Amino acid sequence: MGIEVAVEGLTKSFGSQTIWRDVDLTLPAGEVTVLLGPSGTGKTVFLKSLIGLIKPEKGTVRVDGVDMVNDPDRRVFRERKRFGLMFQDGAMFGSLNLYDNIAFPLREHTRKTEAEIRRIVLEKMDTVGLGGEEKKVPGQISGGMRKRAGLARALVMDPEVILCDEPDSGLDPVRTAHLSQLLIDVNARIDATMLIVTHNIEIACTVPDNIGMLYRRDLVAFGPRETVISSEDPVIAQFLRGSPEGPIGMSEEKDAALLAEEAERAANRPRPKARPIEIPAQLQPSPGEPERAGEIRHAARVDALLPSLPPAAVAAIRRGRAASAEAAAAAAAQSARSAPRVPPQTLQAPPPLPPEFKPPGETP
Ligand SMILES: Nc1ncnc2c1ncn2[C@@H]1O[C@H](COP(=O)(O)OP(=O)(O)OP(=O)(O)O)[C@@H](O)[C@H]1O
Ligand SMILES: [Mg+2]
Repeated sequence: MGIEVAVEGLTKSFGSQTIWRDVDLTLPAGEVTVLLGPSGTGKTVFLKSLIGLIKPEKGTVRVDGVDMVNDPDRRVFRERKRFGLMFQDGAMFGSLNLYDNIAFPLREHTRKTEAEIRRIVLEKMDTVGLGGEEKKVPGQISGGMRKRAGLARALVMDPEVILCDEPDSGLDPVRTAHLSQLLIDVNARIDATMLIVTHNIEIACTVPDNIGMLYRRDLVAFGPRETVISSEDPVIAQFLRGSPEGPIGMSEEKDAALLAEEAERAANRPRPKARPIEIPAQLQPSPGEPERAGEIRHAARVDALLPSLPPAAVAAIRRGRAASAEAAAAAAAQSARSAPRVPPQTLQAPPPLPPEFKPPGETP
């Protein structure tokens, strides 16, 4: 089972530039969370801070009793083995083939034999659809294959927490859909806690249990997927709709004059009748994969939160659950239709051929 990662009061600066401050959030065990935020808001710095590769100057990141920010390096190194990080740029060694790149953490951090390493590497390469590509070097494969190799490498240590930094960037829509499914299937299989940084709104709205968003040095949203998608906060709403209108400008924040101009234009436009924001169904594991234990725990956790949530958030959660239940029922019906009607073990042997029939070429 995955482990909880509890972040409290985390603040990071580089020189006089504050990246983010007083970030509080908890990644619940086994749940999937997406972290959004305009480019340069410090998402990569945040992921690296969770595993102690970057040291924030204030706050704590607690993982099973270890503080990844303030504890001695020796403890942090040991704890880091429980994480798998898929880097934004792949971070593959260009001179090593895929097999050796993916085997690297096992050779570096474990005493496993080469035979054991081989079994694990080949299994993970198979999981991400890279079986048979072991000998290729990173320069010989496509961007999508490099991403999947990065995911395989993040998986070899059987991580309890998986951090993915823009796993979809540079992928075509079909491969992005496959990757989303792969992430959900991996979560269903190993119940790891997952944090995915992405700019892809489709992934953000359909994959995670929770969504967080960084904007201008603050964590401006964090909560169940449905409550963030339905948020009326102008920054969150603009980001999720990918709209040029709103407080976010090309280089972060628009000035007051530009915002006033936009507000005036919006006021003069005829207003469409307000409709509740649609909450899409959440992506489910592929047929044959186990149910997501993280999703079940998430539902129980959110149920306990319901009395403290505003009515609009509760309504959004209900709509999201209804959409997910409907999609799950449709998928179940589809797989029942495509499955053989008679269970294989009760299938009869075909009747013998009539005596007059002779297969072609067979002499009487
Ligand atoms: N080692 C470093 N030293 C100094 N500044 C840094 C360092 N690493 C990151 N930064 C700065 O921190 C800020 C946040 O960078 P980060 O890479 O985390 O952004 P991001 O949200 O991941 O952006 P993107 O969506 O483009 O990947 C940037 O202004 C960057 O220049
Ligand atoms: Mg980044």
